[in-house]
Amino acid sequence: MRSDNALTLALLAIAAGSAAQPAKPVVTCASCHTQQALSQPATSMAHALSLPGNNAVLKAHPMLTVRKGAFTYTVETHADQTTYSVSDGSQTMSFRVHWTFGAGSQTWVLEYEGRLYESMVSYYPAINGLDTTIGDQDIQPKNLVEAFGRQLRPDEPSACFGCHSTGSVTGNHLHLESLKPGVTCEHCHTGALNHLEAISHGSLQSVPPKLKKLSSEEISNFCGQCHRSWETVVRDRLRGEINVRFQPYRLANSKCFDGSDRRISCIACHDPHQEVVRDPVSYDSKCLACHASNGLNVAAHQTQTPKSCPVATSGCVTCHMPKVALPGGHQIFTDHDIRIVHANEPYPN
Ligand code: HEC
Ligand code: HEC
Ligand code: HEC
Ligand code: HEC
Ligand code: HEC
Ligand code: HEC
Ligand code: HEC
Repeated sequence: MRSDNALTLALLAIAAGSAAQPAKPVVTCASCHTQQALSQPATSMAHALSLPGNNAVLKAHPMLTVRKGAFTYTVETHADQTTYSVSDGSQTMSFRVHWTFGAGSQTWVLEYEGRLYESMVSYYPAINGLDTTIGDQDIQPKNLVEAFGRQLRPDEPSACFGCHSTGSVTGNHLHLESLKPGVTCEHCHTGALNHLEAISHGSLQSVPPKLKKLSSEEISNFCGQCHRSWETVVRDRLRGEINVRFQPYRLANSKCFDGSDRRISCIACHDPHQEVVRDPVSYDSKCLACHASNGLNVAAHQTQTPKSCPVATSGCVTCHMPKVALPGGHQIFTDHDIRIVHANEPYPN
């Protein structure tokens, strides 16, 4: 939790520092918001895109290779440089990797003749190696150019970089020269840099909006800018297991969801400044905030008391938020459509 006293002290220190000595200490977010500034840069969101030299996965796997049909793919890393190659046995195409997408599973965006492509193979931690990039399984390449990657549609580059990096898109235009890798403070906190500038002079003008005050529906749409909102999933008709990765959509389909109840907001269960907690029991208290057996946790606007579980008193998410494997992608997601799961039922859309 943030301490207002600590913030006040930091402000006083800055004011005193600037009066006493002309050479001011460098003020960063960490000077005041120490907790968020220390933990957030270590999250996978902060590593959603990486630049050469800054990729732990590739450093740990300097030589990756896989054969797919007639083509052999190699991803080789020496010092800070990664080369992505595809060969048909007689000819080879090689690319310098500039942009890695993904902190765990990784896909490379490649440049060829002035256009951007998504690599045909990706790295998956689950198999500790390369396989076809999810979504590209149906492509049957006929030659090297078709085999190395899928050319991005005109609207894709700014969308990809917009979600995975900061400062690379204004309007719909891509500005790769100003790209900061990953989702950083100012991507989520609009105006944070103006606030830093103002507060460095002790001014509390232009403080970023308080996101904590948003309703659960507003937070779903906020996270849904990238994790896909309910509207996006419905509009783009993303049906079947592939939509399990779109949590705002899945959650909205659950009987638990109430757009005005903050106890079912993304940020009730997740701190966006921390890596996701992979300990199921730690979520019990989030469920019991509504489903307590004593029936006391009824919000003012509710007419019905959420029921308690006749089966168990802890480990709620292990039964009610099942894990779902993405078809073909070696990736597993947690279904946010919280529900009673019946054996052999089809995936609820
Ligand atoms: C010198 C201290 C200082 C620095 C440096 C600073 N802030 Fe702040 N920040 C504050 C104070 C004081 C507030 C107002 C707190 C309040 O109104 O409760 C604030 C408010 C905020 C808020 C809104 C908090 C809320 O309650 O929701 C965000 C977000 C924020 N700052 C992010 C940043 C980011 C990102 C940076 C770096 C780019 C930064 N701040 C740099 C002192 C600082
Ligand atoms: C600017 C785009 C963006 C926004 C806004 C955003 N995310 Fe993310 N988030 C991402 C990307 C991209 C990843 C994938 C990181 C990676 O490569 O593994 C991610 C990953 C995550 C993960 C980690 C998943 C894992 O496998 O460990 C969690 C948890 C998460 N986001 C929660 C949230 C929540 C909660 C919000 C809203 C408060 C939010 N995100 C808003 C882009 C975003
Ligand atoms: C609308 C925002 C958005 C767009 C556009 C987008 N992504 Fe993502 N991407 C995410 C989010 C959020 C995640 C994390 C949750 C997930 O895996 O679905 C993610 C996950 C990933 C991952 C897996 C990370 C992991 O550790 O599992 C890769 C790789 C990836 N994206 C690559 C791309 C590429 C390449 C493009 C463009 C062709 C792209 N993304 C476009 C938001 C986006
Ligand atoms: C993925 C989006 C996202 C990113 C990236 C992000 N924040 Fe936040 N931040 C939020 C949300 C949502 C809230 C409101 C919920 C909360 O308090 O955790 C918040 C709240 C805050 C608050 C107010 C905390 C409080 O207790 O009132 C501060 C301060 C803050 N963020 C600073 C930062 C700093 C500094 C960074 C970069 C190191 C950062 N944030 C990165 C989404 C983000
Ligand atoms: C009631 C609690 C709860 C709420 C609300 C919630 N989540 Fe989750 N979330 C979880 C649990 C539990 C996991 C899985 C943790 C584990 O693996 O042990 C998870 C995992 C995730 C992951 C990691 C990928 C995965 O599927 O395992 C992302 C990303 C994520 N949530 C995003 C969101 C977003 C965005 C929202 C808001 C739309 C949200 N969550 C709302 C409980 C919640
Ligand atoms: C904001 C309050 C709230 C939170 C938080 C919440 N629920 Fe619910 N949940 C409800 C309401 C309201 C219903 C519908 C009435 C009922 O069945 O109790 C419901 C229904 C359910 C049902 C029955 C659904 C069905 O298919 O009939 C299950 C199971 C459930 N919740 C489990 C959970 C679990 C597990 C968590 C934590 C991961 C959780 N809930 C978090 C309010 C909540
Ligand atoms: C071992 C698996 C398991 C665990 C763990 C578990 N549940 Fe359940 N839960 C079930 C099953 C199965 C049902 C359906 C029972 C029935 O229909 O007879 C159920 C029913 C429910 C219902 C609907 C009750 C009703 O009367 O309609 C709620 C709400 C619920 N669980 C919440 C929770 C919460 C909250 C937790 C954690 C404290 C939890 N469950 C832990 C398996 C589990």
